[in-house]
Amino acid sequence: MEKSLESKFAALKSKGFQIDLTRGKPGSDQLDLSNEMLSAPVSSQSSSGIDIRNYGEPLGIPEARALGASLLSSPTETTLVGEQSSLLLIYQLILSNYLFGLKTPWKDQGNLKFICPVPGFDRHFRLLEDFGIEMLTIPLNGTGIDLDAFHALLAEHENIKGIMCVPRHSNPTGDTYSDENIISIIEAGKAYSEEFLCIFDHAYLLHDFLPSPSQTPVWELATQLDAKDQVAVFCSFSKVTFGGGGLAFAAAGKKLFDLLSRQRASMIVCSDKVNQKRHLEFLKDKAGVIEHMKKHAEIVRPKFEVAFDALDALSPEIGTYQKPTGGYFISYDAKRPIAKRVIQLCKEVGVLITPAGSTYPHFHDPLDSNIRLAPTFLGVEDLQDAMEVFVTAIMLAHQELD
Ligand SMILES: Cc1ncc(COP(=O)(O)O)c(C=O)c1O
Repeated sequence: MEKSLESKFAALKSKGFQIDLTRGKPGSDQLDLSNEMLSAPVSSQSSSGIDIRNYGEPLGIPEARALGASLLSSPTETTLVGEQSSLLLIYQLILSNYLFGLKTPWKDQGNLKFICPVPGFDRHFRLLEDFGIEMLTIPLNGTGIDLDAFHALLAEHENIKGIMCVPRHSNPTGDTYSDENIISIIEAGKAYSEEFLCIFDHAYLLHDFLPSPSQTPVWELATQLDAKDQVAVFCSFSKVTFGGGGLAFAAAGKKLFDLLSRQRASMIVCSDKVNQKRHLEFLKDKAGVIEHMKKHAEIVRPKFEVAFDALDALSPEIGTYQKPTGGYFISYDAKRPIAKRVIQLCKEVGVLITPAGSTYPHFHDPLDSNIRLAPTFLGVEDLQDAMEVFVTAIMLAHQELD
């Protein structure tokens, strides 16, 4: 057995692969779905008569804000359209709290902390690290965060400023938080401190590719719980139209919204209204966005199925994963501490995988077991090859520790 696994690995090595499975980017066929936007004429006026070619409307043109509000189920008055990156809007919200805050600037408070569900998104960790914010990790359990761990951290620590969640098809685990989970997060955060900030990064709000659990919109729950000033929700069109060329949206309670808008006004006179109008003409409304996302799902689903088939061949004694029903990632948990070794082995064969540890703050996966796979960018053939390499590397690394 040992010999055949090693000879299989050597045979894969001799194929000279050059495959990059590192980042969750849309495939070019997905980008093609929005090509019409590149050539369609764009009206120079918004539907309310604003000249989109000029400065003005720092919160976005009304119809784009209304589209964002319909996607996030938030009021248009407290929903803004930023540039093309929701990550930038999240950064700006943290910055505005850091510099000014709703009561006292965070920068004057010292020893700031944030709760981060893990495995999570590396750029969230980087962002918090930029502000010197200590990251307290809690596990995800399939339908959201581990609430016992959450309550324990809140009881144990002072000066926790908030939590960063990806409530639908979480990156990378695919968790879709239950309503009960989201309600408990908001309730406990509110009870902890009136400054506690629940950040819901809805990057995959619209990205189901298999039947997925339904969710009450976060904004509705925040309203029911009378916690609007503790909640901010973000999403973007980075994986709807063009990566880095879409629109980003933020919704928050009035006080947070004003804080964010004030911060943004120091950075930018107004965002790209031409792109907002272009998107409106192409996607039209929420129904148009949903229809468009069905086309993405048709392209993405078969790729995930290739990955599922390969991973299902691995024994649960070696590792496990949770099948996502949307989003861009698969999170594989090896039973043994082999993540670094697996990624090294894959690299030797010419398959690049997201570096081990990326799904944890400071690149520190305490068990060295979590690996993030991103199947969307590759064509099906490359993906099949990459998955064969991955599965072989997992078995080999597992066996090396016998
Ligand atoms: C959870 C999450 N948030 C945000 C982003 C980036 O979104 P945007 O391009 O809108 O900044 C990503 C992209 O991978 C993501 O996975």
